[in-house]
Amino acid sequence: MLKVINLKKSYGSHQVLKGINLTVNTGETVVIMGPSGCGKSTLIRCINRLTEPDSGEIIYKGIPVHQLNEKELLKLRKDIGFVFQNFNLINRLTVLQNVMLGLIKWGLKPKEAEERAIRVLEQVELKNFIHSKPAELSGGQQQRVAIARALALDPDLMLLDEPTASLDPILVGEVLKVMEELTRQKDKSLLIVTHEVAFARRVANRIVLMDQGVIVEEGSPETIFKAPKSWVGRRYKEMIEYQ
Ligand SMILES: Nc1ncnc2c1ncn2[C@@H]1O[C@H](COP(=O)(O)OP(=O)(O)O)[C@@H](O)[C@H]1O
Ligand SMILES: [Mg+2]
Repeated sequence: MLKVINLKKSYGSHQVLKGINLTVNTGETVVIMGPSGCGKSTLIRCINRLTEPDSGEIIYKGIPVHQLNEKELLKLRKDIGFVFQNFNLINRLTVLQNVMLGLIKWGLKPKEAEERAIRVLEQVELKNFIHSKPAELSGGQQQRVAIARALALDPDLMLLDEPTASLDPILVGEVLKVMEELTRQKDKSLLIVTHEVAFARRVANRIVLMDQGVIVEEGSPETIFKAPKSWVGRRYKEMIEYQ
């Protein structure tokens, strides 16, 4: 469903992605892990071109994403949901309006958009907060709104960039629970950047480890966390042992 081929990206003289090759199959949950600054966000943002890669190919359902124009890109982003570390909600709108906005933009009538938005907000257990403003919610609730907003458009691929990294530790679980439910939907593929090792071990079909702009190791959670080959893998294995 998604194939990234020899993707490269530099900022000035700093090569952040040094030729990344990555595949995500339909229904698969792939977790990307690696030390801060190794290029995880840059990679995941290049996939729907929130960040422009310098070279390489991104093929999504046979479509060469790297060649799309602005208009085609907007259409693509309906099918590839993105969840940011810092939620990116619109604070002057209510929870319901935040989720409805994209649906209206895509031509749904207000009534239909509202029904669909309420349905996804129920799915993330926020039905009682639909008329609240984001600032009135906890970080965990705000991130669940952001997930609902992405889900409302019914994307086949969801990209999540450290969705729990800004949260108070006691709020992380409620977001992981919602994400875990998503991984059970066999028609959706997920590409998740996270440091949550226990979560990754439980839900990932495949774990991809990055270091300094390259993929240093990938495989099933059992392989990676039991017998890691890379330095990064050994560090994550230690994290599990100390939990
Ligand atoms: N817009 C940018 N301009 C310049 N440097 C950037 C930019 N975005 C990221 N970088 C640099 O690229 C490297 C990788 O960043 P990033 O992809 O955010 O890493 P990660 O998500 O793994 O922490 C870092 O050294 C970061 O400082
Ligand atoms: Mg990042």
